[in-house]
Amino acid sequence: MREYDIARIAGDGIGPEVVRAGVKVLDAAAEREGFALRYTEYPWGGEYYLREGRVLPANGFDELRQHDAIYFGAVGDPRVKPGVIEQELLLAMRTELDQYINLRPARLWPGVESPVKGAEGFRVEIVRENTEGFYVRTGAAFGAGEGVNRQETAISRGLYDCKLDIRSSMTNGDAYAYNLGLITATGAERIARYAFALARRKGMTKVSCVTKRNAVPQMYSVWEDAFDAVAAKFPEIETEKINVDAAAMWLVKKPTAFGVMLAPNLFGDILSDLAAGICGSLGFGASGNINPEGVSMFEPIHGSAPKYAGKNIANPVATILAGALMLEQLGERSAARRIEAAVEECMRMGAFHTHDMGGSDGTEQVGEIIRDKVLSD
Ligand code: NAD
Ligand code: IPM
Ligand code: MN
Repeated sequence: MREYDIARIAGDGIGPEVVRAGVKVLDAAAEREGFALRYTEYPWGGEYYLREGRVLPANGFDELRQHDAIYFGAVGDPRVKPGVIEQELLLAMRTELDQYINLRPARLWPGVESPVKGAEGFRVEIVRENTEGFYVRTGAAFGAGEGVNRQETAISRGLYDCKLDIRSSMTNGDAYAYNLGLITATGAERIARYAFALARRKGMTKVSCVTKRNAVPQMYSVWEDAFDAVAAKFPEIETEKINVDAAAMWLVKKPTAFGVMLAPNLFGDILSDLAAGICGSLGFGASGNINPEGVSMFEPIHGSAPKYAGKNIANPVATILAGALMLEQLGERSAARRIEAAVEECMRMGAFHTHDMGGSDGTEQVGEIIRDKVLSD
């Protein structure tokens, strides 16, 4: 029997609940298709950090590299300073494993009323660059009156190795901080290639290149040049260049105007929550953090939603659909289709209504309803 070895990181808040629901559905799809998923659980997240004093063990990423894929819930614990676990586990995983593609499909499901007018048929594929931009985790903060010339973090990733020594001459005693944004031609080109190939594969006719070149010209010129070079190889696909502020406006005014949206890291993050909002809830937004030659990670786009933790009210659909993206990446296309079809059918039938959909069906129950659909179809 085919077997896949999955690292399972449930994380914080609602993470464990949505991952449990997702695993039920994944196992059902595997059973129907005659393969097995073996899970290794990693207890990383807020609780682990507070207990151990570190976000993950020194060999953590090497461990993860041994698996076929990673299934992830969410991290973020109100007891821990914002950013610690998010950066050192989630963002570090994306860069350490060079998961440079963040695929974030959004679709308004049948039976869900969008808060936005004219969203019927809304469907976009957000392709977010996942290792560069303003997420290179390089910067420094200085308190008022603190000395200058402090050495910043060095960045060293698969694509580049660069040490920064930005010396500041702030002398007025003000507190100050900065972060570095970085785009490489290689990084911009490989994500553009993925976006165009995806458009071709999905039969989407347009790729929108989202930037903010008018305000941040250096970075986004490199991005747009790479976009143009790749676009030339896909002459049948229409292209447009759009600033992120205008893109946000058009998403609300005419949500169906887009197909594939190719966005640098930070803009892709923001636009994907906006797209999920158009779909009625963050609880529907799935994502794949993909390295086509390495180990990929699959998760909902939402966070740990601490206010819902342990209450069995989080919507698990995003995590379930992330499971389908994982199976697709593992080459189990037909199992992935089974999950998507089960979700679609349940939505069409109004088989459940979670809290965010105005109903009261629990996380666990929704997992079981979708699992049963997968088993019975
Ligand atoms: P969030 O995504 O956790 O929640 C925002 C709001 O969206 C919630 O209050 C809730 O109303 C709704 N929501 C989110 N997921 C839902 C679901 N499955 N079902 C129903 N409603 C849902 O974002 P936040 O409040 O900005 O962040 C909370 C914590 O999560 C922070 O620590 C943040 O850093 C972290 N975070 C982690 C990830 C991740 O692990 N990938 C992503 C985003 C935020
Ligand atoms: C996401 C999240 C993360 C991001 C946070 C938690 C660092 O918002 O996965 O969308 O900004 O990428
Ligand atoms: Mn986000």
